[in-house]
Amino acid sequence: MNDLYARDSAAIGSLQKLRFFPSALTGGSGARVTDQSGRSLLDLAAAWGAASLGYGHPALIGAVTRALANPAGASVLSSANLPAVELAEGLLATVPEIEGAKVWFGHSGSDANEAMFRAVTAATGRSRIIAFAGAYHGGTAASMAISGHSVQTNAARHAGLTLIPYPAASRPFMGDSSGERVLDLVEHLLKTTCPGDQVAALFIEPIQSDGGMIVPPPGFLRQLVALCRRYGILIVSDEVKVGLARTGRLHAFAFDGFVPDIVCFGKGLGGGLPLAAAVAPARILDFASSFAMQTLHGNPISAAAGIAVLDTIKRDGLADNAAAVGSHFLDGLARLQQRHAMIREVRGRGLAIGIELDPDRARRYAAKTVYRAFELGLVLYYVGLESNVLELTPPLILTRADVDEALTILDRSLADVEAGMVSDEVIAPFAGW
Ligand SMILES: Cc1ncc(COP(=O)(O)O)c(C=O)c1O
Repeated sequence: MNDLYARDSAAIGSLQKLRFFPSALTGGSGARVTDQSGRSLLDLAAAWGAASLGYGHPALIGAVTRALANPAGASVLSSANLPAVELAEGLLATVPEIEGAKVWFGHSGSDANEAMFRAVTAATGRSRIIAFAGAYHGGTAASMAISGHSVQTNAARHAGLTLIPYPAASRPFMGDSSGERVLDLVEHLLKTTCPGDQVAALFIEPIQSDGGMIVPPPGFLRQLVALCRRYGILIVSDEVKVGLARTGRLHAFAFDGFVPDIVCFGKGLGGGLPLAAAVAPARILDFASSFAMQTLHGNPISAAAGIAVLDTIKRDGLADNAAAVGSHFLDGLARLQQRHAMIREVRGRGLAIGIELDPDRARRYAAKTVYRAFELGLVLYYVGLESNVLELTPPLILTRADVDEALTILDRSLADVEAGMVSDEVIAPFAGW
């Protein structure tokens, strides 16, 4: 291997890297990854949620191997294929509430949000989009254009984009964390500078993940949706990171008492293979042909992986597992919070958990904690507009024993950082975000 990380640094450019420590992986099994020195690390990130079933899951291996051995072409572009059709039917069955819906397939969450942004504006003839400050809807030009994350300040935003605050206890808007002030603001905007009848869609993350794992206040999203519906605005739920059982329910929007018009899936849908999907009304997805297509969209190998993921979530009760194991995790983290002054808040639903740390930029607590945790055998990253929220999106197969192990390592990592054991120099090469 002769230092895989050094070879990676020499051969692969930084544009697509978001590194926190010198992780160089050679394999994975269950909720663990193996690094180049043979160490086994418990993975609380699951490749940002993509490895929903963990690594090397038999259902995924079987489905992908079978599809690869007898591939039904390579995409849905110019022919139908059985895995894509079956996955589309399976996804539609998960959202019976959306009437007359169809499916669009892509490779990534960025891809799905981009296609839906382009389709809703073109199909409705309305040019405006509302999204949240702090939202991360993707890394392609058009998905960045409707995002509001601070890492993308250089991206060209869509001219018709209006960003609104995402209310939260930890991030009050004008002194209010209930969401009431944001609702007043939106009501005002829709009557004035962002006329409601010009808005095609509202993009929502049911938990704002890259913005800081922010859980919305009770009732806020339901009221916001009701307000937008008065103007015929389509509601898009971006479930790319927190959807498909991660929150303890199959769909994250189910917590907030609204049904979206469009749902975007990515990451965990492919279980580690490139796959995304959007479920949307036929009037949007049949609006035009050859409008949002790529050569390998609807790839049968990726679709077979998606079917295996959906089946396994259902068969093995992974939403219930995420709820139970996630609640055990939150209980343990609440105990850690009492022991570590740098923890501001612990929040989340199921296995979508955020640990907000003191945002002191000079001390870089989050960067140091994830670095130390990696040294001690745990993989986790941080998110948030102030780079101060540890994010936990582990595989949905995580067990209580895994959680107990993770809590022990986290406890020690936080203590070591508090004791000044991680220097600025050691984390300096890892830009993070
Ligand atoms: C909510 C959400 N939407 C979309 C994306 C983009 O997904 P991808 O990077 O797989 O294109 C992300 C990625 O972090 C995300 O968290």
